[in-house]
Amino acid sequence: MPRPKISIIGAGNVGATTANLIAAKELGDIVLLDIIDGMPQGKALDLLESGPICGFDVDIKGTNTYEDTNNSDIVVITSGVPRKPGMSRDDLISINTKIVKEAAQNVAKHSPNAIIIVVTNPLDAMVFVAAHVSNFPKHRVMGMAGILDSTRFRTFIAKELNVSFEDVDAIVLGGHGDSMVPLPRYSTVNGIPIAEFLLQDKINLIAERTRKGGEEIVNLLKTGSAYYAPAAAVAEMVESILKDKKRILPCAAFCDKEYDVGGYFVGVPVKLGRKGVEKVIELKLTSEEEDTFVKSVEAVKSLVATTKKFL
Ligand code: APR
Repeated sequence: MPRPKISIIGAGNVGATTANLIAAKELGDIVLLDIIDGMPQGKALDLLESGPICGFDVDIKGTNTYEDTNNSDIVVITSGVPRKPGMSRDDLISINTKIVKEAAQNVAKHSPNAIIIVVTNPLDAMVFVAAHVSNFPKHRVMGMAGILDSTRFRTFIAKELNVSFEDVDAIVLGGHGDSMVPLPRYSTVNGIPIAEFLLQDKINLIAERTRKGGEEIVNLLKTGSAYYAPAAAVAEMVESILKDKKRILPCAAFCDKEYDVGGYFVGVPVKLGRKGVEKVIELKLTSEEEDTFVKSVEAVKSLVATTKKFL
């Protein structure tokens, strides 16, 4: 049986780090595509040459042409411009809409049966662009954000409590922006709600740090945005899909009647398997959580409205 094929559009920080993690997990053959001549080829060869040491047997190819991505099982779109200090994710909208549009057109042409995972920001709007342009069934288009936001929440909880990362689970809903909705009620340490360990004030501080987690990294890096944790999140999604693990993970998925969203991609827990988004999991929310979620969805809607002007 041929190995699964994963193409990564944009061989920058997130794209190349994702390729590294996917190769290490031996999830399939990898194509790294970028507009910069030689750069994806160089990174792909360098990565391939780590294979004998790391012990993975997958092919990794760098390219500037979409023909090399033909018949991919999964296409990860990271092409675009990352933000710099002082920029919000939304400031990237005009330039990244054009870049993601071009990527999605090429996915539709060269890999009509692929599952698309969008990483480019502003995430919720860029997933809309990819779905709209590719015209793929909605369960085959999704965005990586929730796992990243949740892993930040999990990190801060684990560090605060000085417990193993392995035991901390957390859920973040909504858009991938300042209005995201960390859900402490559904966040646990080995099944025990975090409210058993932490006072509400501390939980609020951790939730706020999570909301601003991307900005914290941007301010430290000064030249770009986060990529280790985003790439790890993408690799987790690719693994759940290709191995048909059916993991329950927070992703930007199409919601119509679900959560009464009315036809937008927003962060919700989903079942991720070989078909893509196989189910949106609807959580019962308190009225306060519901209000925050609705506000977050409103922010996504206005972002999508702006994006449409650049399509
Ligand atoms: N086609 C292919 N690649 C492109 C195109 C295009 N039209 N336009 C830009 N790129 C490439 C750039 O050449 C660059 O190598 O996309 C890559 C982006 O990489 P980085 O600048 O390192 O950005 P990165 O940190 O990887 O972030 C990429 O993911 O998390 C989001 O906000 C982030 O939108 C940003 C995206």
